[in-house]
Amino acid sequence: MNLPLHSQKTGPSDKSVAAPEAPPCAGCGRRGFFKKSLAVMIGGVVTLVPALAGLMVLLDPLRRKMSSGGAVKVTTLAALPADGVPRRFPVLADKVDAWNKYRNVPIGAVYLRRTGDGKVEALNVVCPHAGCFVDFSAERAMFLCPCHNSSFALDGRIADTKSPSPRALDSMSAEVRGNGEIWVTFQNFQAGRPDKVPVA
Ligand code: FES
Repeated sequence: MNLPLHSQKTGPSDKSVAAPEAPPCAGCGRRGFFKKSLAVMIGGVVTLVPALAGLMVLLDPLRRKMSSGGAVKVTTLAALPADGVPRRFPVLADKVDAWNKYRNVPIGAVYLRRTGDGKVEALNVVCPHAGCFVDFSAERAMFLCPCHNSSFALDGRIADTKSPSPRALDSMSAEVRGNGEIWVTFQNFQAGRPDKVPVA
């Protein structure tokens, strides 16, 4: 029997004519879920990056503290002239930060000279005025700074009162051990001030 078109029933296989179901609300459904997830991830990154940067700054002194140590072996007594003329040596040490350990990296340099039988004196090569490296003049038997003409005697004291350096060259503890090894407790100090303030 022919029924009018408006009264014909659609069967279960006739889905092409059914209207798609709209999501119950804006932002619902799969697309909404992805949007929300992306927003959460971006928010997390934006929050975490400054927080991590702050943490790094907070931990930095700790990391630097870990990298500065006690005495380090610099050379042997046999490498120093017997007449007390200073000789310059690099200072190498292991450095450790929060993530890595570096072996034998340069942390500075020293002038070493014999001051007596089995005794050694160590001076930092950095000028206390503004941080240039001083040279040793064998002719004048003194240290000279090429930047602003400070001059220092063999023991590090200021040689010329016109020197702009506010203090003598920085001395450090140097020890001769067992088989002639020279161990120096190396330290850098802040420039431009009359007292010795260690660089952290
Ligand atoms: S840095 Fe040495 S005199 Fe200025």
